[in-house]
Amino acid sequence: MTSHAIPKWQHRGVPGRIAYVNGRYLPHALAGVHVEDRALQLGDGLYEVTNVIAGVAVDEEPHLDRMERSCRELGIAMPMGRSSLKLVMREMIARNRIRDGLLYLQVTRGAARRDHVPPRTPMKPTLILTMRTQDMAGLAKRMEQGIGVSTQPDIRWGRCDIKTVQLLPNLMAKQAARAAGAFEAWLVDGEGYVTEGASTNAWIVARDGTVITRELSNHILPGVTRRVMLEAMAEARITVAERKFTVAEAKAAREAFITSATGAAVPVVSVDGRQVGDGRPGDLTRRIHDLYAAKTGMKTD
Ligand code: PDD
Repeated sequence: MTSHAIPKWQHRGVPGRIAYVNGRYLPHALAGVHVEDRALQLGDGLYEVTNVIAGVAVDEEPHLDRMERSCRELGIAMPMGRSSLKLVMREMIARNRIRDGLLYLQVTRGAARRDHVPPRTPMKPTLILTMRTQDMAGLAKRMEQGIGVSTQPDIRWGRCDIKTVQLLPNLMAKQAARAAGAFEAWLVDGEGYVTEGASTNAWIVARDGTVITRELSNHILPGVTRRVMLEAMAEARITVAERKFTVAEAKAAREAFITSATGAAVPVVSVDGRQVGDGRPGDLTRRIHDLYAAKTGMKTD
C-alpha cells in the first residue's frame, strides 16, 4: 500500500473506483500488487471481462468456466472457489455502485523473485477485480451506425485460446486500426484467413444468409458471447457455419459483425474502407443481437 494522498476524483464513494486486491477492497489509488508480481514482470496472468446489467454479471458461469480453464492451462491455482469469487463479484458491484458496467477480473501466478521458470513450490495467486461504467451512448451509436474494421497481420502466439494478459499484439493491431480510422482490427493469419478481432470475435453473413465465424482452435479465444450467440442462433434455426473465412469473403459479405462481452453483436459496415453489403448495419446482425439481448436482459437502445 502506498502513502500517497487519494486524488479527489478517486475518493471513496465515486462510482467505479473501488478495486479488490487479495482480500481487500480499496480505492484505486491505494490498491496495488507486489512489485515482483509475475503478471507485472512476465505477463504471467489471465483475465476475464463480464458485462454487468442491472447489477447482475452477464454469462457469469461461462466466464468463470473459461477463467478456470485458463488457470488450468497455465498451471495457475484459482485463488478461491467459485462461490466465494461470485460473492466478491457481487460485493464489487455493490461497493462501486454501478448497475450497468464492466467487471474486470485478473488472476496472476503471484509474486516471486523474478525468474522465467515459475517456482516449484505452490504459489499464492494474486486476484484483482476492478469495475467501470460502460459508455452506453458510444455503444448505442456503434449499434446504430456500425463500425469499420481494419485488417492487420495476426502476430500473436500459438495459444490464443487462453485469455492471458499478454495483449501487446492485440493492442498494436488495435492502435494501427484506429490510425487507419477503423474501430476494431481484424487479425489475419498467414494464409489470408481472419482469425478474430483484437478484442472481439469476427463474423460475416454470406450472400446466401449463412452466418460464418471461425471454428474454435488455439488460434482464437473461445468467446463467451460467441458461444451464447451460437446457442441463440441454433434455437432460432439460423444457418451457421463454423469455419474460417478470408478477407475477400468478408469484403463480399452481405453483413458482418463483431461480438464480445462489452458489446454483443456490433455491426461492421466496412472492411479496410470497403463497404460491406449496403454499408449499413445488417438486419440479421440486429436480429442476432436481439436474440442475445433477450437471453441476457441487455439493452443498447
Ligand atoms: N475481450 N477475442 C478476443 C481476442 C478477446 O479479447 C475477446 C474479449 C473476445 C470476445 O470474448 P467474450 O465474448 O468472452 O467477451 C474475443 C474482452 C472483452 C477484453 O479484452 O476487454
